[in-house]
Amino acid sequence: MQTLGEFIIEKQKDFSEASGELSKLLSSIKLATKIVNREVSKAGITNILGAVNQMNVQGEQQQKLDVFANDHFIKALTARGVVCGIASEENDDFIICNPTENSGKYVVAIDPLDGSSNIDVNVSIGTIFSIYKRKSQLGTPVVLDDFLQKGTDQIAAGYVLYGSSSMLVYTTGNGVNGFTIDPSIGTVYLSHPDMKIPSQGYIYSVNEGHYNSFSEGIKKYIDYCKDTTDKKPYSARYIGSLVADFHRNLIKGGIYMYPSTKSAPNGKLRLLYECNPLAFIIEQAGGKATNGKRRILEIEPKELHQRTPILIGSKQMVEKAEALISTT
Ligand code: AHG
Ligand code: MN
Ligand code: MN
Repeated sequence: MQTLGEFIIEKQKDFSEASGELSKLLSSIKLATKIVNREVSKAGITNILGAVNQMNVQGEQQQKLDVFANDHFIKALTARGVVCGIASEENDDFIICNPTENSGKYVVAIDPLDGSSNIDVNVSIGTIFSIYKRKSQLGTPVVLDDFLQKGTDQIAAGYVLYGSSSMLVYTTGNGVNGFTIDPSIGTVYLSHPDMKIPSQGYIYSVNEGHYNSFSEGIKKYIDYCKDTTDKKPYSARYIGSLVADFHRNLIKGGIYMYPSTKSAPNGKLRLLYECNPLAFIIEQAGGKATNGKRRILEIEPKELHQRTPILIGSKQMVEKAEALISTT
């Protein structure tokens, strides 16, 4: 069985400028993944220990899991000198990694802990990341424009699912590969080579509580999902952790939607570290991602924490939704 470390090294030769920097970056993500996975898996028990005296066993103050994940991903990404800047959901502004040397040709956008409302209830959560090559010159301070690149410019993107077993799934533009952590020895194995999403699925995932404030097109598509005229109704599945909903649909086939609502015209999800990385993965797996009118990967970002409506998943399902939206 191939490990993630072996896989990264083997694939290094696929890149024209194979200086090994991207390999180092992916290895640092692997390290942070293991650390966060360990912390997530003991979250329930540390809460009990923490409740006794608000201190963990090392005598340190308890940290919230999303802050913990943010700190450890930033630390790991910064340590090897290959990343010059990080945009995180947890930080208003981007972080400059090595301000004295400004070394590193990559920037990373990250949602360190996705599905945070599910932490306390023992439901799967995740991490999402996106990697770009900086546009500004090496050796100069990283600038906002380095992060405001279109999704089509991504060098790599992936997510970690902390679930009943934990997985790292990523693409560098040559298909999608999934790796599973063996928690007993901390090794990460290639378990899902060349992942492809079925072109037609039978699951729709959307927070239907917002139905009344969705656009007519989205309402029509949801009604179609339930319609039994010439098909069975689709099954509704919504975990409320984007990574978990996305991962299930990637494997089984399905569509995930976070459309605009009356009170949130741009939807809820963030373009740079939620939608773009998952859109890159879904396209690499044979699926589609749109905001209803445009391909997600072609949207020009204007700000770090920009939101966008998104419909993502099986090709035929996204196309059917687009078709119904275009008639309204
Ligand atoms: P985060 O925990 O990073 O803030 O993301 C939460 C997101 C996403 O994971 C999930 O799909 C969505 O919020 C759920 O939103 P609703 O509760 O509005 O359905
Ligand atoms: Mn999120
Ligand atoms: Mn988050």
